[in-house]
Amino acid sequence: MNYSKIVATGSYLPEKVLTNEDLASIVETSDEWIVERTGIHCRHIAAENETPASMAAEASLQALNLHHIDPQTIDLIIVATCTSTHFFPSTACQLQQQLKISSCIAFDISAACTGFIYALSIADQYVRSGMVKRALVVGSETMSRVVDWKDRATCVLFGDGAGAVVIERSDEPGIIASKLFADGAKGDLLSLPTGVSPGLPGLSEMAPHAWPFVQMKGRALFKDAVVSMGEAINSLLEDNHYSFQDLDWIVPHQANLRIIDAIISKLSIPKEKVIVTVGEQANTSGASIPLALDSAFKDGRIQPGHQVLLEAFGGGLTWGSLLFRT
Ligand code: ACO
Repeated sequence: MNYSKIVATGSYLPEKVLTNEDLASIVETSDEWIVERTGIHCRHIAAENETPASMAAEASLQALNLHHIDPQTIDLIIVATCTSTHFFPSTACQLQQQLKISSCIAFDISAACTGFIYALSIADQYVRSGMVKRALVVGSETMSRVVDWKDRATCVLFGDGAGAVVIERSDEPGIIASKLFADGAKGDLLSLPTGVSPGLPGLSEMAPHAWPFVQMKGRALFKDAVVSMGEAINSLLEDNHYSFQDLDWIVPHQANLRIIDAIISKLSIPKEKVIVTVGEQANTSGASIPLALDSAFKDGRIQPGHQVLLEAFGGGLTWGSLLFRT
């Protein structure tokens, strides 16, 4: 039987760190408010010359070099990003060029904070079907360029960074299963209403004037995130006859510590099995899961043979989960 297996991970965080104290000199906020409401202490901010593609290249090269994988053996690149510099060439095509890969499939996925799980699930289908042998899946975001730095309700939440994984064909799992969801009717809870075409009727009502910043209905989103991620986790475990006892680690989307804590409490998840990086990185949207995953591989928490569940929720709305064995 064909499976795909994660064989390498890498990550990149920009050098510049913006603390809550730094933010308090930009908008009316405080370290105390931000930590209490979100668990975030600081975030990384991309330099002027950094882009989702350049950060994706750093994370990818780290994964490839550490595991001695020749970039020319990559058959497929999928980048999850909602902050690409271009509609085309996609960030994936820019990355292909930066990695000097002469020929492969390359495209971006737009599913906001759930983007990495969508991308990994799609790459898994390509590998299982036999269409490709090896895929590079990346989440890379410059959220600092799409938040309104005058809006304290949103600018304190986000950060920049990139994470990458390489998956390849294997006789044993590997990626066991994934579940993806979307509900466009709730698109107004979290949006980035900027683009090259006029707005759709429903969506243009919520953003009558194109406003190139993240728009968020924070309280409603919080409630929906907890319910939806609970659904994504429970349904995936049930479908595959798994319980929390079978899992070694849960890697949630790193949006906000209060959302993570609410899910832990609602589902009675053992807290010590949950990987949390949001405090030092904030919400890096599609990059948050591969960044957290890479840190847990690197510090040795995730070991060979471990079973890991990924779960995310984001704009769209989109949500999903993915289960794998190392
Ligand atoms: N500093 C100080 N005060 C602030 C700030 C800030 N940064 N932001 C808002 N406030 C004020 C508000 O103006 C309001 O003041 P008022 O009572 O005088 O009107 C007060 O704090 C309470 O505001 P709320 O928005 O009701 O605060 P809440 O407790 O809901 O916390 C938060 C806001 C943290 C955004 C919360 O709603 C939340 O976590 N929502 C989920 C959103 C999220 O995580 N989004 C990330 C993207 S989604 C994803 O990735 C899944």
